[in-house]
Amino acid sequence: QAASSLQQACEPSSAYSNDEYADIDWNGLGFGVIPTDYMYIMKCPSDGYFQQGQLCRYGNIELSPSAGVLNYGQGLFEGTKVYRKKDGGLYLFRPDQNATRMQIGAERMCMPSPSIEHFINAVKQTALANRRWIPPPGKGSLYVRPLLIGTGPVLGLAPSPEYTFLVYASPVGNYFKEGTAPINLYVEGEFHRASRGGAGGVKSITNYAPVLKAIHRAKDRGFSDVLYLDSLNKKNIEEVSSCNIFIVKGNILSTPATNGTILEGVTRKSIMEIAKDLGYQVEERTIPADDLIDADEVFCTGTAVGVAAVGSITYNGKRTEYEISPDLVCKKLYSRLVGIQSGAVEDNRGWVVEI
Ligand code: COI
Repeated sequence: QAASSLQQACEPSSAYSNDEYADIDWNGLGFGVIPTDYMYIMKCPSDGYFQQGQLCRYGNIELSPSAGVLNYGQGLFEGTKVYRKKDGGLYLFRPDQNATRMQIGAERMCMPSPSIEHFINAVKQTALANRRWIPPPGKGSLYVRPLLIGTGPVLGLAPSPEYTFLVYASPVGNYFKEGTAPINLYVEGEFHRASRGGAGGVKSITNYAPVLKAIHRAKDRGFSDVLYLDSLNKKNIEEVSSCNIFIVKGNILSTPATNGTILEGVTRKSIMEIAKDLGYQVEERTIPADDLIDADEVFCTGTAVGVAAVGSITYNGKRTEYEISPDLVCKKLYSRLVGIQSGAVEDNRGWVVEI
C-alpha cells in the first residue's frame, strides 16, 4: 500500500465483540473519554472524493507533523448520541442533521466531505461495532464523535492535500459535574467566542480551544460554564462554550438568532419544534444580556449537554438567580426530547433512526 500520512491497522468489520455489555460501572457516567473497541476511518486522497472506509481497532493515529489539521486547524467535528431502548433496540437521533452540518462546515473550511449516506452509515457501523459500550437504558448514551480533518502535509497556508473522516465513540452520562442540578453561568466580558464573518456558525475545531481560558477562569470561580456576548456590540448573548441558550418569559421561548456566529445546534432546533408542539411561542431574535435579569427561566441545549436548567447567571458583577421547580418549562421539553430519543415517546417526525 502506498505510504499515507495516516497509518492505521484495520480489521474486517465482523471482528467486533458481541458481549452484551462492557465490564464498567454504568452508574455515574460523566463526560470523559472511555476508550471503546472500534473506530471508523475513511481517507480522501487528493482527487477530492471519499470512497470507502472501514472499521479499525480504536487507538492512536499516526499523522504527518505537517498535517493541515495540526498546523492550521483545518478540521471539523460532530457529536451525536445512540440510546439503548428497554426492548434492546438501538436508536440514533437525527444523524442526517449532523451529516448536513458537516457538509456545510466542510465547504466553509475548504474540505471535501462524505455524502450524507456515507456519514450516517459510518456512524451506524461505529455504534454497532461498539454496541457493548452503549449504556443500559436510563444510564446514559453512546456519544459518537465524527471528525473531518486535513491529514495531508502542508507548509504554506493552503488546504491539505489529503483528508480523513474518522468516527469514534465513548459512553457518556451527564456533561456537567453538577449532574442534573442547575448550572451556574458567567457572562464573559473580555473574550468572545466568534465574530461576524468568522467560523462560529460551523463546528470547526478552531472555535473551541480559544474558549478554554474563559472556561478555566470561570470554573476557578465556581461557575459551570461561560456565556459569550456578541463581539460587535458586546451586549447581546450568543452561545455558551459547549451549548446553545434559551430564555423563557411567560409563554415565550427565545433563543439568539443565528447569523454566522452561533452554532445551529441539533438539540436547539429540536427543542424549538417540541416547544411549539407543547403550545409555547418560539422566537429567534437578538437578546440583550439585560433580558436575562427578568427572565422566568434560562436553559441550555446541546447534544452533549442535553437540556440543562440554569440556576444563576452572573453578568457585570450582578448575580441573577432563577427559581428551580419540577414545573420548569425546560424539564417538560427535556422529558419529551429524551422520550423521543430513547423510544419511550412516539416519534412522529422521523427523527429517530433505529440501527
Ligand atoms: C456537543 O454537544 O456534541 C458538542 O460538540 C459540544 C462539545 C463542546 C462537547
